[in-house]
Amino acid sequence: MRKHIIAGNWKMNLNLNEGYSLASEIKGMVIDEITNLNAEVVLFPPFIHLAGIKKLIEGSAVMLGAQNCHYKDSGAFTGEISPKMLKELGVKYVLVGHSERRQYNFENNQILAMKVSAVLSNNLHPVYCIGETLNERENKNEFIVNQTQLNEGLFHLLPSQIKETVIAYEPVWAIGTGITASVAQAAEMHNFIRKLVEEKYGTQVADEIRILYGGSMKPDNAAQLLSCNDIDGGLIGGASLESRSFVNIVKAVKS
Ligand code: PGA
Repeated sequence: MRKHIIAGNWKMNLNLNEGYSLASEIKGMVIDEITNLNAEVVLFPPFIHLAGIKKLIEGSAVMLGAQNCHYKDSGAFTGEISPKMLKELGVKYVLVGHSERRQYNFENNQILAMKVSAVLSNNLHPVYCIGETLNERENKNEFIVNQTQLNEGLFHLLPSQIKETVIAYEPVWAIGTGITASVAQAAEMHNFIRKLVEEKYGTQVADEIRILYGGSMKPDNAAQLLSCNDIDGGLIGGASLESRSFVNIVKAVKS
């Protein structure tokens, strides 16, 4: 069975002290309340929190992720952070292509393909995010949009590399809006994505790759979404900023 991932994407929120408190609370709750942890719990704080939080979560099952990186290991790229630097900090996962970066930072599939490769060559795991906008869904283009994002940003990888990768399906219209995709909508798209992986890489890779759902996942809708066969965890924004709601989502993972 695929091990689920419950990932908290803090985005550009929380000052240092707030971030440290949140990470400590989550670590404590996971240790105290979850005896049979059936998921990887990963926090994606802002860059400046990473080193401090790494120390705080040591000795627990909570892991560290980064929200973005550059596609080069070093060089004259003012303001950027490289995957090599993230590796040194003890980061395990890196978000690549979150819809907010596609929208506000104009990251296209070609740039994202380079980032995915750079993350992997530093022995980190990309969480490659895809998803359609409301307009694209209303025009019935949701399948082709997600397929294109996979083809151009991810499917250049070798089978050995794709196995180290996680896909996150995040319909843009569900992110931060309080509107969650229905279980049927999410299940349908996850199934479609897994079929595309199977066509390209074969059954074994398709069976192993983890596909997360993101977009207004909350404690009260998590269990239903996470009970779908093809949904292997969640990428959680708003509800990850409060320890109780985030840990309750971790608890919603089926055992
Ligand atoms: P949300 O964000 O849970 O606040 O909708 C999810 C995400 O952007 O990863």
